[in-house]
Amino acid sequence: MHDISEYLAKNKERFINELIQLLKIPSVSADPAYSQDVINASEAVKASLLEAGCDTAEICETNGYPIVYGEKIINPELPTILVYGHYDVQPADPIDLWNSPPFEPVIKPTALHPEGAIFARGACDDKGQMYMHVKALEFMVKTNQLPCNVKFMIEGEEEVGSENLGTFVAENKEKLANDIILISDTGMIANNVPSITTGLRGLSYVEVEVTGPNRDLHSGLYGGAVANPINVLTKMIAALHNENNHITIPGFYDKVEDISKEERAEMAKAPFSLENYKKALDINAVYGEKGYTTNERNSIRPTLDVNGIWGGYTGAGAKTVIASKAFAKISMRLVPHQDWKEITELFKTHFESLATDGVTVKVTPHHGGQGYVTPIDNNAYKAASKAYETTFGKTPIPQRSGGSIPIVSLFEKELKSKTILMGFGLDSDAIHSPNEHFGVWNYLKGIETIPYFYQYFTKLSE
Ligand code: BES
Ligand code: MN
Ligand code: MN
Repeated sequence: MHDISEYLAKNKERFINELIQLLKIPSVSADPAYSQDVINASEAVKASLLEAGCDTAEICETNGYPIVYGEKIINPELPTILVYGHYDVQPADPIDLWNSPPFEPVIKPTALHPEGAIFARGACDDKGQMYMHVKALEFMVKTNQLPCNVKFMIEGEEEVGSENLGTFVAENKEKLANDIILISDTGMIANNVPSITTGLRGLSYVEVEVTGPNRDLHSGLYGGAVANPINVLTKMIAALHNENNHITIPGFYDKVEDISKEERAEMAKAPFSLENYKKALDINAVYGEKGYTTNERNSIRPTLDVNGIWGGYTGAGAKTVIASKAFAKISMRLVPHQDWKEITELFKTHFESLATDGVTVKVTPHHGGQGYVTPIDNNAYKAASKAYETTFGKTPIPQRSGGSIPIVSLFEKELKSKTILMGFGLDSDAIHSPNEHFGVWNYLKGIETIPYFYQYFTKLSE
């Protein structure tokens, strides 16, 4: 792979511009107002796969947004890499907090990205990271260095729970057959501390509704004499953690994987500065489950968080009212062996039991998925590690992430293949937040590193 640097030097402006064009399409899967844009993004991805050198690329319709599938099979005897990514993005709101419009990408330097970062919704999650694979393929095909077969499966519903991908995978096992699944939709520790993601958390996402009186009431005439659903809801939510910030749902921790002292000690070796962590978030202290470090709390431990809460009067000025209803959206991040459906049931039973007199409680499950832990003793990890060594000049650190890509465990179940998570984003890239960005250096480093993975993986598979 002697000329990837040369190819990059020659083509990097075009690589950046092509990504910018893709980022201009507001493919927000959660909001039906953008449905045509989501479809347009799928077309753009298909075109880019053909342009990069796939033999075939197609739009596969589902009951929701389409899945883009492309492939280049050079020899059935050789290994096959299946690249997964997503072309849909999170909603941009709160829009006021963006320094530039979310779908008009701009390149600006930041403290961690002195050579510039592309600011746009989806820059890092996941258009930028997905597109690295398209450009890596282009390089390998155009320079006759593709060492194995490759398949692409790029979906448009990741940010809304991948509801239709499961069916597609189950119905297309033959077509999707592969030796390894390769995903860039996670992060790494720092540009000078490369890491490979070895774990993802599972997820259970629910919505709760507490109903009191049959209509909104005057808070003077009725206050104190009837249950106020907002008062009750906040009390119920507060009861979900104890004074040590352990979750109080009975049975919640029963299946949580025990991590040995040795493994925790190993994890603690990853470079981390609590001071910088606090400074970056402008907080005077961290917070969380007693007995665990910050990095353990956000990776190997399950959590429960309110993601949104509403009810009553929230307009300008004051209105004296007791609302009839209060609502919250709650997510639970799960760790290996916790079953998301079982946890959802445990939550429902417990939450309903917390209801006081005078209210009714409804729990509606949204979506969820299982966690995943990747092996580090297989050819894929070895090949990825070697690829990072080649381009970063350092051995990457294996690190578990707190985020979720629920479909990964389903891939293993249906396709019987392992996944390797080569993420090139940083935690500070503000995914799902205003001013999401992706370092230009990171984008190009990804394009540079991926072909080495192909090369080493093919060699190790011989
Ligand atoms: N790419 C993220 C997940 C991620 C980000 C994992 C960084 C590890 C590090 C993905 O697009 C995402 O946002 N997943 C959702 C879950 C999904 C079911 C909506 C999440 O983690 O909240
Ligand atoms: Mn993503
Ligand atoms: Mn996301």
